[in-house]
Amino acid sequence: MLIRIKRGWELPESQATPEDVFLKRRSLLKAAAAGPLLLGAGGLLAACDEAPNQVAEAAEDPKPVEDPSAGLYPVERNERYVLDRPITDETLATTYNNYYEFGSSKNIWQKAQALPIRPWTVAIDGMVETPMQIGIDDLLARMPLEERLYRHRCVEAWSMAVPYSGFPMKALVDLARPLSSARYVRMETFLDRDTASGQNAAWYPWPYVEGLTMAEATHELAFIATGLYGKPIPKQNGAPLRLAVPWKYGFKHIKGIVRFEFTDERPVSFWEEIQGGEYGFWANVNPEVPHPRWSQATERVLGVDERVPTLLYNGYGEFVADLYKDMDPKAERLFM
Ligand code: MTE
Repeated sequence: MLIRIKRGWELPESQATPEDVFLKRRSLLKAAAAGPLLLGAGGLLAACDEAPNQVAEAAEDPKPVEDPSAGLYPVERNERYVLDRPITDETLATTYNNYYEFGSSKNIWQKAQALPIRPWTVAIDGMVETPMQIGIDDLLARMPLEERLYRHRCVEAWSMAVPYSGFPMKALVDLARPLSSARYVRMETFLDRDTASGQNAAWYPWPYVEGLTMAEATHELAFIATGLYGKPIPKQNGAPLRLAVPWKYGFKHIKGIVRFEFTDERPVSFWEEIQGGEYGFWANVNPEVPHPRWSQATERVLGVDERVPTLLYNGYGEFVADLYKDMDPKAERLFM
């Protein structure tokens, strides 16, 4: 049986879901989480199931996270990357999350605290000179940490602006020493069904996978975030390692990374495998290319609840447009 759940994004902002309707939808989603009977294999749940007014649910402050890397932060800010809007309130950015491993609601931050982030071993393998496994603290000690202010634009048409700490992904690629035949980096999230109950939903192709071309991965803007707001990055935001590629939609920003694999095959990412007609490999932000079910022309800025125009490449065109200048947008779906 197929049930189509109406997305908040399909409504005009003026008709944001009333609470009772919203609660009914939550029960539906809960029922969906209970088993594949309602939804069947993939296809129906997309990265875009939540109503805008779910922000109201995120009232409590998250508990402070104890993390052995706490002494590393804050790190010096790299002033090259400037914002055109205020930094999003920390409580909002850390309590309004997408992390399907812990459920399909935005309110997963407490569930995510169950994730053990030490020991945390990262595999760097595939087409590299020498495959390696490295513990997160050894990796952090070898990487040049800095802070960057980045805008984040979710494919669901909400956005925020946050201070990430971390290191340029190029530093990790240099550490990996990929072979010249490597064309892509495929990244994988942890797989732990006991800790992350969402991973028991068998219609999703776990683990979460994302990918970049080598040119994207070594681009100056590609960043591996290990901190947020001058502290270790919270679990719900992707601790201990999470990708930040601010010119691309948020679903590319894979969290809880355990593997970087260098390959000559283009990776099929999590959402692409579920719904390839709606979520592709490139996922570059473009206000003129609508999602098949909603417009991408504007975005709701978290905490401000104001819609602002979305910018091509999320405003990072001067940095990244060259990456795609020789590509044919008819042959490649660059913007979804
Ligand atoms: N990474 C994993 N492993 N699982 C996820 O469900 N959701 C993605 C991305 N990374 C997701 C993920 C989506 S859709 C978005 S918008 C961002 O994480 C949200 O990041 P934030 O919660 O820090 O705002």
